[in-house]
Amino acid sequence: MFEINGNTKICGLLGYPISHTKSPQLHNKWIRQYNKNGVYIPFQMCHLDKSFFDFLRFNDNILGLNVTIPYKQEVIEFLDDISEEVNYIKAVNTILKKEGKLIGYNTDYKGFVKPLFDLGFKSGNILLIGAGGASYAVYYSLINFLKIEHLFLINRTREKAEILASSFNFGNVSIIDKISQDLLNSCSLIINTTSLGMGKLADKMPFDLFGCENLCFTDKQIVYDLIYNPAETLLLKKAKQDGAKVINGMPMLIEQAKYSFEIWFGVYPDE
Ligand code: ATR
Repeated sequence: MFEINGNTKICGLLGYPISHTKSPQLHNKWIRQYNKNGVYIPFQMCHLDKSFFDFLRFNDNILGLNVTIPYKQEVIEFLDDISEEVNYIKAVNTILKKEGKLIGYNTDYKGFVKPLFDLGFKSGNILLIGAGGASYAVYYSLINFLKIEHLFLINRTREKAEILASSFNFGNVSIIDKISQDLLNSCSLIINTTSLGMGKLADKMPFDLFGCENLCFTDKQIVYDLIYNPAETLLLKKAKQDGAKVINGMPMLIEQAKYSFEIWFGVYPDE
């Protein structure tokens, strides 16, 4: 049970819709575990306006917020400052209130790389599929934490891949239009950031899109799909069949939450 009093710090999740979010369960568990005087609650808002952010600024109990779809980019204009990574990633998933000012952070990029470190991945050629919002945090993470020999980037809309690549100061990148078996064999890490494999696209593999249906993985490769629902996409199923190591989006989801908790409460939950 929570003991709420006048000093209880409030944090929560801003997004729409968020009725199925598991974030309150996670954060409230850590709040109890680490004996913090806090509570994490959902803020489901169908649009953003300045008055909500003024409420956050002027309410002394507000500690910060997580931000999710569809507001990760839009929220930036309502904040007082952003941390360095947000300049590159162009999305905020964590807000901290410091001396009355709302500061935007992004912890997705740290959450992304943690499962790769856990598998001992450090360097090699990488194939990145997708150039949407999520791929910016992935790209930032790859070039900052790993030793990339070469990065191959492919996306349905080539122009978006070009914009993604030009947003970062990293030279060893090629934008490709087709994935050959030789190119795939040369990559030790394959990442999917597209929505192919979830929701209405659950019966799709990212490879189908680029006319590369018959590609095979090897047992030397790691295949990382940012999708966590379903837990095993067609891409991961195929990768597993071929003997590759696989990572879905769940560890990243939990890790980004841990880093947010650390920003607010100064403790990285060690589970
Ligand atoms: P997110 O913020 O989750 O990354 P997004 O910004 O909408 O979402 O990006 C979705 C990614 O999935 C993009 O790479 C998108 O390709 P485009 O840039 O060409 O739009 C890709 N994607 C979504 N639906 C797709 C589809 N039906 N076929 C191929 N790619 C698709």
